[in-house]
Amino acid sequence: MNRDIQFDDAGKLRHFLTVDGMSRETLTGILDTAESFVTVGEREIKKVPLLRGKTVVNLFFEPSTRTRTTFEIAGKRLSADVINLNAARMSVTKGESILDTVRTLEAMHTDLFVVRDSASGAAHLIAKHLPPHVRVINAGDGRHAHPTQAMLDMFTIRRVKGKIEGLKVAIIGDLLHSRVARSQIHALKTLGAAEIRAVGPRTLIPTEIETLGVAATSDMEKGLRGVDVVMMLRLQRERMDGQLVPSEREYFNRYGLTEEKLRHAAPDATVMHPGPINRGLEISSGVADGPRSVILEQVTNGIAVRMSIMATIMGGSEERI
Ligand code: NCD
Repeated sequence: MNRDIQFDDAGKLRHFLTVDGMSRETLTGILDTAESFVTVGEREIKKVPLLRGKTVVNLFFEPSTRTRTTFEIAGKRLSADVINLNAARMSVTKGESILDTVRTLEAMHTDLFVVRDSASGAAHLIAKHLPPHVRVINAGDGRHAHPTQAMLDMFTIRRVKGKIEGLKVAIIGDLLHSRVARSQIHALKTLGAAEIRAVGPRTLIPTEIETLGVAATSDMEKGLRGVDVVMMLRLQRERMDGQLVPSEREYFNRYGLTEEKLRHAAPDATVMHPGPINRGLEISSGVADGPRSVILEQVTNGIAVRMSIMATIMGGSEERI
């Protein structure tokens, strides 16, 4: 996939499609800008005028709660006009291609598309076919990437741990179907995590993962030992064809994160999950709702981080917030 399309001729970030290949400075800049947006959400009037007069279209061809809603709130807090399109009710179901749908919306002078699709590469394809002044953010494409989720995860880690550099991180569960894990790995590596482990049944760990510098193990205890951050993943049963996991009870026994298993991690380990969570399958309620969990902070942070990404690619981040 051509990553260069993300940048304009002057090297400025134009689209946000993948974190793979983005520099440490770019990622850190987005996280720093997000810090300044956190306070906006805590004000009485939660708005800044950075995207006033701009039109943002949320184009979601797959279900979503957190991502779609936080993009909508982020756009509104930046004073943009935000339109949400529920793809199930749109012309694509009447046979129109995604590109024709996008061109139609572009004809209405959309400035930014936020795209989620079940096909890997959908956001890239759209970005390639739009005129240069129209921006695209990838809100999850197939199994490929979910870069804004990875950035809100990095932001959350940085807020809780004070840094990302030098940390040991375990990513646990269904990595095979996870666009989140792929983006997390790229972001963690670029931002200097000391060690990244992939933990789960062999059937759910992609074979090429070790080429990314990640140590794979199917031994939960070994995978958790001494880690600072535990990133749980949802078992994506809707993407599985065939029997990739044993019974749910057995999966929970071996890989479900419980207070007991968490004892193998560092004493101050932080537990994360992008949501939606399957309680009693990949994580126990005790851990999900417990003191180490930052699952709801991740959701809240998603707003400031998405504001930062929107403002950065629309060129408004240097202005007064
Ligand atoms: C993730 C997704 O859609 O990729 N969720 C999210 O964006 N919060 C992970 C998942 O669906 O399990």
